[in-house]
Amino acid sequence: MSDLPQPERIPYHLAIIMDGNGRWAKARGLPRQAGHRAGVDNLRRVLRACSEFGIRILTIYAFSTENWGRPEAEVKGLLNILETVIDRELDNLHANGVQLRHLGEISALSPGLQVKVRRAVERTRNNDRLTLNVAFNYGGRDEIIRAIQRIVSDGIPPEQIDETLLNFYLDTAGLPDCDLIVRTGGEMRISNFLVWQSVYAEYYATPKFFPDFDREELYQALLHYNNRERRFGLVLKP
Ligand code: FPP
Repeated sequence: MSDLPQPERIPYHLAIIMDGNGRWAKARGLPRQAGHRAGVDNLRRVLRACSEFGIRILTIYAFSTENWGRPEAEVKGLLNILETVIDRELDNLHANGVQLRHLGEISALSPGLQVKVRRAVERTRNNDRLTLNVAFNYGGRDEIIRAIQRIVSDGIPPEQIDETLLNFYLDTAGLPDCDLIVRTGGEMRISNFLVWQSVYAEYYATPKFFPDFDREELYQALLHYNNRERRFGLVLKP
């Protein structure tokens, strides 16, 4: 499928809610962790496709602030995946010009994992081919609360608080809002993802489970995005 025509408009910032790993595994009689591993395998394909289509920022929802409530073994498995991805994929990501950023509250991770995440972010900070935001222990409301806490503790006077300032305090500081949010796995909800950054985003939901969301599926999402008229709250000229 290397002959897909390039859609006219490409979202600059794509965000994906990678849902359906568990159901993908269940349908094959496999443990849920096998579904998450298949999700990671697919992430490599999605990253390649994003790079090929010219998407500049990809934000993935890997672990929400609510996911701590899952069975302990699954939580451990997801933490383990984050560590393994950093250990095994960082050289390759770096060589391919990927800048890694972490969105979320890092202090809940083990000290060792915190160091790995910080080092990975630091090592890739000057890369500019594609930015990969990994939302891990992330919640949109939590992000906004943490931003407000820092604004208050920095002693910023209330009259100086505006959208530009708040943007500066968010985990996504310096990045533009997301243009397109894709949710795999058939659900139609935002689940506390990019609450602030998604106000003018287009949505695309597909029943495909994330491990099956391949390049062609991403292409369908891009076509859908091309057919949308983004008005940003304005009335378009006739
Ligand atoms: C939702 O599917 C998926 C997750 C909570 C985890 C997604 C994580 C990955 C794909 C691994 C990538 C991680 C990193 C750190 C790069 P689900 O388990 O809720 O599926 P279900 O709705 O079918 O049960």
